[in-house]
Amino acid sequence: MKITVINATEKKGVTYHLKESFLAPLKEKAEITEFYLPKDGPEFCVGCLQCFSKDQNLCKDAAKVQAIEKALLEADLLVFASPAYVFHTTGAMKALLDHFGYRWMPHRPAKEMFGKRAVIITQCLGAGGKSTAKDIKDSLSWWGVSSIKTYTFKLMSEVRWDLIPEKKRAAMCAVLTNAAAKFASIDYSKKTGTNPIVKAKFMAVRMLQTDLGKANPEYTDFKYWKENGWIGKVRPWKRT
Ligand SMILES: Cc1cc2nc3c(=O)[nH]c(=O)nc-3n(C[C@H](O)[C@H](O)[C@H](O)COP(=O)(O)O)c2cc1C
Repeated sequence: MKITVINATEKKGVTYHLKESFLAPLKEKAEITEFYLPKDGPEFCVGCLQCFSKDQNLCKDAAKVQAIEKALLEADLLVFASPAYVFHTTGAMKALLDHFGYRWMPHRPAKEMFGKRAVIITQCLGAGGKSTAKDIKDSLSWWGVSSIKTYTFKLMSEVRWDLIPEKKRAAMCAVLTNAAAKFASIDYSKKTGTNPIVKAKFMAVRMLQTDLGKANPEYTDFKYWKENGWIGKVRPWKRT
């Protein structure tokens, strides 16, 4: 089993400890690849549009973006961990997600994403954890990921891990350890079913791409959809 983890901060604080408690039961079983942002991530997207209109490898940050994408595509389980920063994910995580705009379904989604499982762990002092998770979930769902489980915590006390009451820390870790035990028992050779919302999004975009292709058969996204057979009868969630 392969797990790829995207940490929205390099700090070994609350987010880190919660993520570690989730990974603990999986460590023996899984090959885990972790990225810590901003260190391992790309610089900000500058809006050059090359990834959308031509090729993702023309991006000035292609080396870092593509290294992360490779790890995401090879993983059975994706884990995203983020604190709430002013009600949203960190700027570093947003910078990374922007670079995967070309992987949103209206453009060139990766077929590997359909049938993948993901976990999002967020925490905050009092409010904003849910909107932080949504920042990440919006991208994952538009990448085609069907099974996305979210775990959000409110500290309601200290924000330093060592100062959070032991009972509170244990309760948060127990939620994640129990969740991880379930993820450890999954047979990852079987892809998860694609949910109806992902399928509906795909079919709506397919109509759009068909129209765009009629207007311009050389349109980058249309060519990608056509090459994958998606304008015809092939579907990314079906095994060939
Ligand atoms: C820049 C910044 C903004 C924050 N914004 C919020 C917020 O909007 N709501 C909230 O409840 N906590 C907020 N926090 C607290 C964090 O969500 C988090 O609980 C705290 O940073 C501890 O997590 P960490 O050790 O992983 O950094 C903020 C913290 C920082 C540094």
